[in-house]
Amino acid sequence: MKEWYDKINKVKSVEALEEIRISVFGKKGVLAAEFAKMKDAKGQEKSKIAKDLNMHKNSLMSELSAKKVTLQTAELKKAMQAEAIDVSMFSMQSEVGALHPVMETMDRIVEYFCAMNFAVKTGDMIEDDFNNFEALNLPKYHPARDMQDTFYFKDEMLLRTHTSPVQIRTMMAQKPPIRMIAPGAVFRRDYDLTHTPMFHQVEGLLVDDESKVSFANLKYILEDFLKYMFGDIKVRFRPSFFPFTEPSAEVDISCVFCKGEGCRVCSQTGWLEVLGCGIVDPNVFKAVKYKNVSGYAFGLGVERFAMLIHQIGDLRSLFEGDIKLLEQFQ
Ligand code: PHE
Repeated sequence: MKEWYDKINKVKSVEALEEIRISVFGKKGVLAAEFAKMKDAKGQEKSKIAKDLNMHKNSLMSELSAKKVTLQTAELKKAMQAEAIDVSMFSMQSEVGALHPVMETMDRIVEYFCAMNFAVKTGDMIEDDFNNFEALNLPKYHPARDMQDTFYFKDEMLLRTHTSPVQIRTMMAQKPPIRMIAPGAVFRRDYDLTHTPMFHQVEGLLVDDESKVSFANLKYILEDFLKYMFGDIKVRFRPSFFPFTEPSAEVDISCVFCKGEGCRVCSQTGWLEVLGCGIVDPNVFKAVKYKNVSGYAFGLGVERFAMLIHQIGDLRSLFEGDIKLLEQFQ
């Protein structure tokens, strides 16, 4: 039996150890054979052999299991060393990430208005009828609701169609004066070259004492902002309609592509529409119970800005996650 201790001692792998275990403890193993021989022995001799064999049986068993633990630990250590990843290793393949052009544009817009002391507010993307429509002077069945194709949930809840509800929520939550912008995602049932069901807007609202806010203030800041975004361009205000502003205007910039010569992007007009704005309608102030104040508001589509700045033709391509397109904006 002695040689088996030596074999266990010298074995190098869990597999070889298992072979030894079978040779010793298996049905046809040495122990079984030794015990079988016992039947020929008698009396004292028999019990001595039995005692001896049982002693070997127990100590070989414990040698085996101790060795198994040692070998397993060693093998595990070896495997872990082989699979170890050097996290500090420099990889030639690593790609440089970059902001998505829409987020980069949004950041730039927010940066301008923050510098002008506007606070950044965010609202929920799931809104109720009151904040998205009613308080913005869009009562139920008002035809102007058709201007915005809405995604509805049950119980009059909806995906906000614009960031204007953040105006209402901010005015309900705090007293005037107010000077805020609201960047965020909005949703409409629309899908073509220049529309996606989800897009981003930045809303602006300024409310102060009646004597302090005028259309001239609005015109000044928007002109300054658009020059900050697009460089040396001309700005034009065109009368328009929004239920929540009166008077309302749409703002155009001179075409950044053809510089007034007339191209496809500006439909030969030399002008590109970039935002909507106006003086806050008194009905909006009535809805939020504000008195003796005046205000201006504006709203713009961030994707439209990004498309004009980066000369992107198809808005939908911005949301396809195509690396070939995105890696151009590093
Ligand atoms: N909410 C308007 C829209 O989504 C934009 C707007 C905001 C117009 C504020 C005027 C004032 O079209």
